[in-house]
Amino acid sequence: MVISDETRSKIEEAISKYPQKRGALLPAIHLVQADCGHVSKECAAELAEIFEILPIQVMEVVSFYNMFFDSPQAKHHVYVCTNLPCSLRGSRSLLSQLESHLGVTAPGATEDGRIFLGHEECLGACGYAPMMRVDDEYHEDLDVEKAKQILDSLGK
Ligand code: FES
Repeated sequence: MVISDETRSKIEEAISKYPQKRGALLPAIHLVQADCGHVSKECAAELAEIFEILPIQVMEVVSFYNMFFDSPQAKHHVYVCTNLPCSLRGSRSLLSQLESHLGVTAPGATEDGRIFLGHEECLGACGYAPMMRVDDEYHEDLDVEKAKQILDSLGK
C-alpha cells in the first residue's frame, strides 16, 4: 500500500462531503501528492480502487493540471509570473536574476533538487506585481533582493 492510512482517512472524509464519490477526486489527488510528493502509477491505481474508476482516469486528471506531478519533483516549486502587468513591473528581469542566483535555466531544477524555477502566466495578483508563487504561497510586490531572500530561506 502506497497511500498512508492517514491520507486514506482524509480521502474518506473528503468523499463524505460530496454527493457523488468522484467529486472528491481532485482533493484526494492533492492529499496524495502532499503525502507522497507526486502521484505515481501505484498511487493512481490505489486511488482508482478507492473511487471505483480506472487508473487511467486518475492519470488523466493528474496530467491535465500543472500543479499535479506524476514523477518525483524538486522540493519547492517557484513560478515567477511573466504576463504583461508583471512584466511591465520587471518580472522578466527578476526571473533572469533568479536563474543566475540559482544557477538554473527556467524551467528547470537546481542540481540538489531543492528548487524548481519556472514561469507562469497571470496568477491573478496583477495589482501586486511583480509576484511569484512559491509552492502554495503568493509573494507580491517583489524586488530582486526580497525574492532571493525568499528562495534562500526555503528548506531542503
Ligand atoms: S500578470 Fe502577474 S499576476 Fe497577473
